[in-house]
Amino acid sequence: MAQEAAKAQTAQNWTPDSWRSKEALQLPNYPDQAKVKETEDIIRQMPPLVFAGEARRLKAHLAKVANGEAFLLQGGDCAESFAEFNAVKIRDTFRVLLQMSVAMTYGGSIPVVKMGRMAGQFAKPRSADMETIDGVTLPSYRGDIINSLEFTEEARIPSPKRMLRAYNQSAATLNLLRAFAKGGYADLHKISKWTLEFTENTAQAKRYDEISERITDALNFMEACGITGDQMPEVIRETEFYTCHEALLLPYEEALVRTDSITGEYYDCSAHFVWIGARTNQAQNAQVEFVRGIKNPLGLKVPPTMSPDDLIELIYTLSPENEAGRLTLIARMGAGNVEEKLAPLVRRVKDEGRKVAWVCDPMHGNVETAESGYKTRRFENILSEVNEFFDVHKAEGTHAGGVHLEMTGQDVTECTGGLYGIKDEDLSNRYHTHCDPRLNASQALELAFLIADRLKENKK
Ligand code: PEP
Ligand code: CO
Repeated sequence: MAQEAAKAQTAQNWTPDSWRSKEALQLPNYPDQAKVKETEDIIRQMPPLVFAGEARRLKAHLAKVANGEAFLLQGGDCAESFAEFNAVKIRDTFRVLLQMSVAMTYGGSIPVVKMGRMAGQFAKPRSADMETIDGVTLPSYRGDIINSLEFTEEARIPSPKRMLRAYNQSAATLNLLRAFAKGGYADLHKISKWTLEFTENTAQAKRYDEISERITDALNFMEACGITGDQMPEVIRETEFYTCHEALLLPYEEALVRTDSITGEYYDCSAHFVWIGARTNQAQNAQVEFVRGIKNPLGLKVPPTMSPDDLIELIYTLSPENEAGRLTLIARMGAGNVEEKLAPLVRRVKDEGRKVAWVCDPMHGNVETAESGYKTRRFENILSEVNEFFDVHKAEGTHAGGVHLEMTGQDVTECTGGLYGIKDEDLSNRYHTHCDPRLNASQALELAFLIADRLKENKK
């Protein structure tokens, strides 16, 4: 039934603006609609940020993830910000992702698909429309693309002009990421240079050094055999790096839809991959309506409240042709919940023969408020959720396809635990996130080694 209904809907009755006739949750109430229209028109004239061919290539990689032949690493800020926009931040997140991917590729003998929550991850869904501090109530912060974090009446008014700044920042970020990926920074010969100073002298830094020595030996061996310069395969000299964000702010996303000149199909050219968040996953609502018509590979967050029937309906709506690579399910159940909540969903998807990649977001089900009042996550819970995720897939005979993380290359103190043993009272030292607490570089690398061990075990 659900399948027939979805088929009838797909492609037909879809236009880049068909979401406008649906109920839309989590969108800002802009006071000046004429300004919104003006801004959309400007963005519609701008060059696309990504090329459709790149999104198709990513989709092919994600098909491998769905088949258990590759592993997906998605990571970056919860919310990018205008204030913390600089080359060092971009480079540091990029290099931790490179380090993590080396740890996993080496340990797990599996290719890693790298995707940054970067160059467009600005809009935030919120649980409450209003926020109260010291008796003053104002509209919630919804991400720098919408309003400002500053707690004043003026700052919290949504402004469409912010979409232009987000577009420009995304373009500049993407430009640098492409340069890093293809221009020599990601060359495996530089592997020992990716280490971040503040992660030195830890157990995982030592483990990373060992790997980098072995890889360097292998490269030296290749060179001694005469494979040098341009003969060195491209995969050694450069990497592929993709971008993703939540498809939340539909006026912006719609304004970046382009028709691919090669296939005539629609792509949302704001990023290679976009996902549907846990608060806007209603099959009949605007966000789902929007993404079902674009050809980008898609993500769908799967919270513990989602029933198997609802998930199946969404899968038929978002991936009616059942092509591997089209849809990645990002489970965010919370530590201790995975067996109970995820296993029935995995089983049902398998029984229905749906081709999806399963990825674990161990962040969003593990948020808590520390005694100090800071929103935090315990590293041990993050590790547990990832372990439980691997256990469920092992038991069900399906593939643990990847992880989706909120992390940064900076030395922040936002999540407690990890090898440095960040405590509740340390959170205030370097708590910089604009939204949810992120893993710092050392915690992220520690997690990557745990994943590498689990991937290795799966190979046996
Ligand atoms: C997020 O990824 O930042 C987010 C808000 O996640 P979720 O929709 O799963 O709560
Ligand atoms: Co978040």
